[in-house]
Amino acid sequence: MSEFAKQVVKWQKQHGRHNLPWQINRSPYSVWVSEVMLQQTQVQTVIPYYQRFMTTCPTVDSLAQLDIDTLMQLWQGLGYYSRARNLQKAAQMVMTDYNGVFPNTREDLMTLPGIGRSTAAAIMSLAYQVPDAILDGNVKRVLCRYHGVKSNPKDKYTIERLWAHAEEHLSSDDPQAYTQGIMDLGANICKRSKPVCSLCPLHESCYAHEHQMTHDIPAKSPKVKAKPKDLFVIMCLKDTQLGLVRRSQSIWAGLYTPLIYDNHNLLLQDFPQAKALAKYQHKLTHLNLTIYPFVATVKSCDKITHWQDISDITAAIPTGMIPAIKQLYACIQEDNDIS
Ligand code: ADE
Repeated sequence: MSEFAKQVVKWQKQHGRHNLPWQINRSPYSVWVSEVMLQQTQVQTVIPYYQRFMTTCPTVDSLAQLDIDTLMQLWQGLGYYSRARNLQKAAQMVMTDYNGVFPNTREDLMTLPGIGRSTAAAIMSLAYQVPDAILDGNVKRVLCRYHGVKSNPKDKYTIERLWAHAEEHLSSDDPQAYTQGIMDLGANICKRSKPVCSLCPLHESCYAHEHQMTHDIPAKSPKVKAKPKDLFVIMCLKDTQLGLVRRSQSIWAGLYTPLIYDNHNLLLQDFPQAKALAKYQHKLTHLNLTIYPFVATVKSCDKITHWQDISDITAAIPTGMIPAIKQLYACIQEDNDIS
């Protein structure tokens, strides 16, 4: 085992994280669910979602059978909703293609939607104790700094180099502690800004530390500029019920929203009585949304497929719609004339 791996394992045992909910009763299923939730979301945000998810869906079979609306409610607020849809598709594939037995090779795991090489390797090492290299964002930063990789960690060539470094350092003795350790180091010590090198078990042989380059490594990628987009949202009220539709494509697929128009005039053609509320901004990874909420009382509306009482909305609503609905509540409480 390399000196690097030895140091990481020793450090993990003494100083790493041991009480995260997915570290208790680890199974391939629990590791998989947590890894997918953690792909784009911080640990502290994930914890309550993970706990609720495992209570509702404790097994791969229960996930395969869960109705999609409940799945979306469990994911509501975590964002990147394709992760939830893929999770269920993969659970269904485990039931049909793998006879309900969770795959135990990297190759088989990677046949499942939403599982790439790093997530598969995390499952192999954390759940099955098989040495396999992970390379998530945190690990890329640790390896770039340690090996002095100065090129952009998003470049194809750099990623290949980093995979090779990740493979160099595997621990054959304790793959679970090694994987958890390199993740913990990346998250808590080798942080993007102000890394705490004095507490790092690798600092004596770290290139960036030696050359005082932790500020410059890893190289920053040019920011992809989010595109501006306007959305016009009409909240139809029928007595105390809010009209919703289930989105089938584009952003927020699988979630419920009030009717959304790309164009103000089209909204006003359909709802000439609509009253404008205050616009607001909502950022998604690739879009900077400006949301223009409107409200109209209606007797009926053909376009609406779901009516839910505004005091008890159970459908999964995207976070970007919450400020509009809050304004609607305020509007109703003030007993404004909204017709
Ligand atoms: N980020 C990705 N996987 C993780 C894990 N298992 N524990 C903590 N943070 C993580």
